[in-house]
This record gives sequence, structure tokens and C-alpha cells, in this order.
Amino acid sequence: MGSFRHRKLLQQLKKMTDTQQRTFRSSSRAMHVMPAWVIDKYGNNDVLRFTRNASFPLITYPNEVVIKVHAAGLNPLDVGMRGGYGAASMSMKRDPLNLKQSGSEFPLILGREVSGVIMECGLDVKYFRERDEVWAAIPPWKQGSLAEFVVLSGNEISHKPKSLSHTEAAAIPYVAATAWSALVNTGGLSKDNCGNKRVLILGGSGGVGTFSIQMLKAWGAHVTVTCSQNAERFVRELGADHVVDYTAGPVQEPLRVMEKFDLILDNVGGDTERWALSLLKPWCGAKFVTLVTPFLQNTDQMGLADGMMKTFVTVASKALKHLTSGVHYRWGFFAPSGPALDEVRSMVDAGQIRPVVEKTFSFSQVPQAFAKVEEGHARGKTVVQIIGGGEYS
Ligand SMILES: NC(=O)c1ccc[n+]([C@@H]2O[C@H](COP(=O)([O-])OP(=O)(O)OC[C@H]3O[C@@H](n4cnc5c(N)ncnc54)[C@H](OP(=O)(O)O)[C@@H]3O)[C@@H](O)[C@H]2O)c1
Repeated sequence: MGSFRHRKLLQQLKKMTDTQQRTFRSSSRAMHVMPAWVIDKYGNNDVLRFTRNASFPLITYPNEVVIKVHAAGLNPLDVGMRGGYGAASMSMKRDPLNLKQSGSEFPLILGREVSGVIMECGLDVKYFRERDEVWAAIPPWKQGSLAEFVVLSGNEISHKPKSLSHTEAAAIPYVAATAWSALVNTGGLSKDNCGNKRVLILGGSGGVGTFSIQMLKAWGAHVTVTCSQNAERFVRELGADHVVDYTAGPVQEPLRVMEKFDLILDNVGGDTERWALSLLKPWCGAKFVTLVTPFLQNTDQMGLADGMMKTFVTVASKALKHLTSGVHYRWGFFAPSGPALDEVRSMVDAGQIRPVVEKTFSFSQVPQAFAKVEEGHARGKTVVQIIGGGEYS
């Protein structure tokens, strides 16, 4: 009898401990809802809606973690997605078999960068533990970080740099993952081969540009940047060797008299590819990598199949055309990557890369934060504080 009661007590104790371990502090409201900024349709800033009743994100796969969001970074992509940019391809990614009704992505949470704390780990997550401080870039087909919690896979997250606050850390992951994908994966640059490389960044004063300047300088490259005149001092402070003011006249003229480049990162688009590829060193593997591509626009306008076909034909014919002049033409895309962020963390903690936060908003000011990003002429990043950011923390 005694041993039965003892066993029962032990079982009760174990149940309590298990429950305590899996319980974490959310907002004071019930655990199945959370505060978030959502959109219920695509449009301008008016579609942003604050709710305390957004669905609590659940772990679906064993490699996922729940992160309590401390800060969220905003990017031009968030403004685009608010208006429906990329909706066709994102829907395909969320629902590949097209089983759901159209519009099933709503309520949609935006915000592609997060810095926060892990609250719960899926059974297969070995590299991270509860209470780890992490940062991540969030794929556009997943729910974003303008919420109290977000769920991401263990491959997408990385331990946050110790030297940064959450607010500072949230300014880096999306631009870092984009720059890494464009410069390293597509452009073939690395810390070991940059010493003798000349790189031109078209549009160097924004989020991707300011990160790229710092990473390339840390790797020893020579960096030339185009930006408007009032950003010149700012990009020089980040390490740019040469700065060309694109507002002073046709920017290609001063660039043409310079020594040719090994790689051009294009953050501007428009007519740049009509003249920029002639600035590359021919027949020695030099590359033009543009981040401004028509891929999502094509799929939005023409549907997935036709849009992808048009995209493929466009990029292939351009690549072929430029290959005959001895230079490589490539499209760069954001790619979420925890391992890339691990490398970036080391550079941040070594003081080689600093966050460039242009403006910080509280969680109640998300529409103002969107308006700021929409203004353009960024000098770094716009960040929203979720915890410690006012009324909803
Ligand atoms: N393909 C992808 O997966 C991907 C991922 C991320 C970003 N992107 C794209 O990459 C671009 C850059 O992103 P971002 O986050 O860095 O944007 P951002 O923060 O808005 O910065 C853009 C910068 O470009 C400058 N600029 C505008 N026109 C220019 C010109 N003609 N010449 C030189 N500079 C010019 C602007 O500053 P001033 O005019 O004031 O000097 C601004 O600082 C955007 O078009 C974005 O959509 C693509």
C-alpha cells in the first residue's frame, strides 16, 4: 500500500515537473492567443491591424522552436508583401497542393527579422536549448516577427551576438542572409579570396548595402559604393574606399574611368544592367549579381507556371548574352540560413560588423515603422521593439 502511494506521489511529481518545463511565460492572456500586428487583405498602411487574439504559433515539425520575440526588423520586402508582392509564389510555398481556398494566408503577420529567446524546442532540436538568445531571418512564406511569438526551424536560427542588444541584433539577419546569399553563394566571394578583389556596390547606403560594405571590408576587399551625396560620410565611416554620388549626374561616367571590378552587387535595378556589366574585368570570372529581379512580379502577374517560365527564359538569355562578353550575369535572392548567421555573429562579436539602426519604434507604432521604410532613402534599418517596447510588452 505504502509503495503504491509512493509511486502515485512520484507520478504526480513527474507530471508537475513536465508541465512546468513545457510551460513558459506568455502575455497574461491565455496561451492559445497572442498579441500581433496582422493584415487581413493586401493594401496600404490602413490594412495593418493590431490584435491581442492572433493564433499562438505551434511547433509542427520536430526541428522547430518557439521564439519569444524581443525585437523585429523591417525591410522594403515587408512593405511589398503588405501590398501583395510575391503573393502567388508564397501561396504555392505555403500550400503546394493548392488544397486551401485563396486568401487562406490571412491573417498574415509581417516582419522578416527577429531577435529573441527560445521558449520551447521540438524533439529533434539538439543545437539549441530553451532560454537561448537567438536571431534569425524569417522566410517570406512563414508567419513573421511582428508578434509576441514566432516558430522557426532550427536550421534558420543562430545564437545572437553577445555584444548586441536584441534591438540592435534585429537589424541584421535579413540583410545579412541576403548579402551572404548574393556575395558568397552566388558571387563566390569568401573571407579567403577577397584580399585582391575590387567590388562595386550600387546602392550602398541602405540595409543590404551597409551590411555588405562592412563584411567585404572585414574580408579585405576594395569597396566602391554609389549612394546620394548626403550618405557619403556615413558609408565612408562603414569602410567604403570610394564613394560615387549618383545624384550628381550619370553615375556610370565616374565609374567608367575607374579600374574595372571583380564583382558588382546591384541593389538598385532599373537601367543599371544596361551599363554596369561593362565595368567588370572581362574573361576572368567577374560577376554582376543583381538583387532586383522580376521573379516575384512575373509570378504575381502571370501565374506560377508562366511566370516561372518567363523568369527562366529572361535570366538564361541575359546570362548567355553577357557570357559572350566574358562576364557573368546572375540573380541574387534572400536565403534563410542559420549557419551563415553563425559566421556573421563571429564577425559582429569581433567588432568587424556593427548594426546600423536608423530608427526604433515601439510595438504600438508598427504603422509608423512601415511608413518610415516606405519613405525610402534608408540609412540603415528600421526596428520594432516588441519586449520593452511599450504598452504590449
Ligand atoms: N532578391 C532578393 O531576395 C532581395 C532581398 C533583399 C533585398 N532585395 C532588394 O534589394 C534592394 C536593396 O534592399 P535594401 O534592404 O538595402 O533597401 P533599402 O534599405 O531601402 O536601401 C536602398 C538604398 O538605395 C539607395 N538608392 C536609391 N536609388 C539609388 C540609385 N539610383 N543609386 C544608388 N543608390 C540608390 C537609397 O538611398 P539614397 O537614395 O537616399 O541614397 C537607399 O538607401 C531593394 O530593391 C530590395 O527590394 C532583394
